[in-house]
Amino acid sequence: MRIRRSLIDLDDLNADELTYIFDRTAAFEKAKPERTLAGIACANMFFEQSTRTFASFNLAELRLGADVVNLSPKDLSLATKGETLEDTAITLGAMGFSVLVVRHPEAGFPQRVAMAFDGHVVNAGDGPHAHPTQALLDVYTLIEEFGDLAGRTVAIVGDVLHSRVAHSTIRGLHRLKADVVLVGPESFLPASYSTGGVTVERDFDAVLPRVDAVILLRIQRERFEHMPLTDDEYVASYRLDAKRLKNVREHAVVMHPGPYNRGMELDDSVLEFAGWRYAKQVRHGVGIRMAVLDFLVNGRS
Ligand code: CP
Repeated sequence: MRIRRSLIDLDDLNADELTYIFDRTAAFEKAKPERTLAGIACANMFFEQSTRTFASFNLAELRLGADVVNLSPKDLSLATKGETLEDTAITLGAMGFSVLVVRHPEAGFPQRVAMAFDGHVVNAGDGPHAHPTQALLDVYTLIEEFGDLAGRTVAIVGDVLHSRVAHSTIRGLHRLKADVVLVGPESFLPASYSTGGVTVERDFDAVLPRVDAVILLRIQRERFEHMPLTDDEYVASYRLDAKRLKNVREHAVVMHPGPYNRGMELDDSVLEFAGWRYAKQVRHGVGIRMAVLDFLVNGRS
């Protein structure tokens, strides 16, 4: 079996390919796209809930003219009839599917699919491991804002430990030479995250006045049993709210991969803030996913 290109994490793309995907995203967003996936069968396999990633992959595939099938876990023989993941992948390949978009709560699951599947696999989020297309759209949103990210400082705040978005976005920002400051309590952000180009801070109020961008994270309660600190303790130290917004630099932007929890990592004043970029992130999610799918299937044009 020929190993085809898949996207499991950002390391699967070199610097030129990253640039190419960003350029294609801009082109796809500017004009009605050609049907570059006409005749290509794509299956979206989401074993975990999703609003943004599922809808935007679906829309991206349809806009590029693909044949799209959405397979929910309860419909798969994998779920109840003892079929293995590997045999499911072989079966879908034999049926003529070229692309599988896979979300799963287990880290490494999309990689296992890619090993067995004669086609392209896109990781749409696997446990706390990686979420490469979210990272691409986050980085793209920042590039649109600031141009070159070298020397820019980006704070990622909250439950870094359980966040696949943070893990992929840190890689993306580091590769583009941004300074990454991770902010959170020890229980959500072990000191071991501090490596070259990435620093760990505990005091959000001290960090805020010196950053160009803040990426807020949801507490990933579905990935642990006991909340290590009370909600009130978290809010007191790490919620971005009206009081803390006064310390944000005038040109700075605030982002969130979604879904956001009002009252926990942000309050409603953030949604009114001039630098709130959530809607732009979501919009770029469609363009980025079109660019990724087109690149994997058709290569560089
Ligand atoms: N950001 C993100 O992955 O959102 P969904 O879980 O809704 O896809």
